[in-house]
Amino acid sequence: MRPITRRHALQLGGLGVASLAIGTTGLVWQRGSRLVPVTGSDLTEPEVLRSRGGLLQVRLEAAQGQIAVAGREATVYGYNGSLPGPTLRLRPGDRLQARLVNRLDTATNLHVHGLHVSPQGNGDNVFISVEPGESFDYNYQLPEDHPPGVYWYHPHHHGMVADQVFRGLYGAIIVEDPDPIAVTRERVLVISDITLDGSGQVVAPSTMSRMAGREGDLVLVNGHAAPRLSARPGERERWRIINACSARYLRLRLDGQDCELLGIDSGRFPEPRPVDELALAPGNRADLLVSTRAGSASWETGSVDRGGMGMMSSLGDLSGGVGALATLRVEGATAPALPAVPVQPTPEDLRAVEPARRRRITFAMGMGGDMSGGMGMGGGGGEGMGMSFTVDGKEFDAQRIDQTVQQGTVEEWTLVNDSPMDHPIHLHVWPMQITAEAGQPVRGVFRQDVVNVPPRSEVTVRVSFGNYTGRTVYHCHILDHEDNGMMAVVESVPAA
Ligand code: C2O
Ligand code: CU
Ligand code: CU
Repeated sequence: MRPITRRHALQLGGLGVASLAIGTTGLVWQRGSRLVPVTGSDLTEPEVLRSRGGLLQVRLEAAQGQIAVAGREATVYGYNGSLPGPTLRLRPGDRLQARLVNRLDTATNLHVHGLHVSPQGNGDNVFISVEPGESFDYNYQLPEDHPPGVYWYHPHHHGMVADQVFRGLYGAIIVEDPDPIAVTRERVLVISDITLDGSGQVVAPSTMSRMAGREGDLVLVNGHAAPRLSARPGERERWRIINACSARYLRLRLDGQDCELLGIDSGRFPEPRPVDELALAPGNRADLLVSTRAGSASWETGSVDRGGMGMMSSLGDLSGGVGALATLRVEGATAPALPAVPVQPTPEDLRAVEPARRRRITFAMGMGGDMSGGMGMGGGGGEGMGMSFTVDGKEFDAQRIDQTVQQGTVEEWTLVNDSPMDHPIHLHVWPMQITAEAGQPVRGVFRQDVVNVPPRSEVTVRVSFGNYTGRTVYHCHILDHEDNGMMAVVESVPAA
């Protein structure tokens, strides 16, 4: 895995001392009244709903409820009363019919993150709004050659995404391999974060942490705090890992065990790549093989420096170390060896294709945001200090089309980060192949749907708009940034 490099937080000028004091006070006030997690419980996984005969029909009811989180009763959101929601297992060529029922008191909708399906009509259409008390029938047709891998679903109603995801609305989608890989067991591991007070209520983030992107102080695996996993030596486990955190970056290690990466997002390597450390930006997934060795291993996430905003240093490190996510205990008789991993189907290398068009797209943060958007600083008094989050100088407008691409063409997009923080950039429907980072060509085929762009830097990607027409979005997957404007619309139009 290409590691995330460490860098120093840059200063963002112009923010006064008054706001710093507000942030600090808020933080101090919240401490000491947090939920105390129960750690060391056995890991459980959400219910699995599997397609049959090419079809999976599900009903997903989004509601607030009393759900066990970190071993305690908490008042959170869930799909079908579960955090994470049920795992959906599909095969290439399947149809997924999902009835979304909204029992929340705010509007919501459903997005199938990473799936290569149509964005139109009742497909993966993020412009749909499902009002409280209403429901909507989604219908997604996966192509026959849909890449196998780890995907996920979550709400995508602009302005509410960070809050609804942070409160518990997310679940895994697995697209099975056409040519199965022999493993002892599979685990679906949804990593999320949340902040709960002593009575199990979700703590609303401060304005400051919404600007940085809210991070919860509990980091959960399938809703558990530091759960326990067990295995025998010589086993091969397959870990389907999802970073469902609203803003937290993960840097994962499982020292003492042999880890090999099959791929990130929908990208695959022909052969599994040995990894010691795995960096996942918000929204990224990893498909990992773990070959077990006797002993007890701690699955940890280390700190990631994702930049800062100068005045936020008082809030501590963003994506700072949290230590153990889980403990893996390996003991007992050695398991029999498994057949070798078959060669994986790899994506087409778009470096061999001359792009029909090149674009530069700039992501920025600046002063003078729209105060009505709710990012004004200084609470009720909020005079004149707002932060805007923009793509090419503009905040999101669902009515505007920012890029028009032609179906069937390959384009090269340079994603430019003109701000002092990292932004993980996500494009719906069509995956991106990373071809250059900070102007340096990238060796190998890395296909992802969330691509991290470091501060004051740029990443170049190629995208094949080979399939589907219609409108969808690209945005920062720090969900507070998306909600506050760092999102834009792309429309794919039929070839003339
Ligand atoms: Cu994971 Cu636009 O979303
Ligand atoms: Cu998405
Ligand atoms: Cu961002």
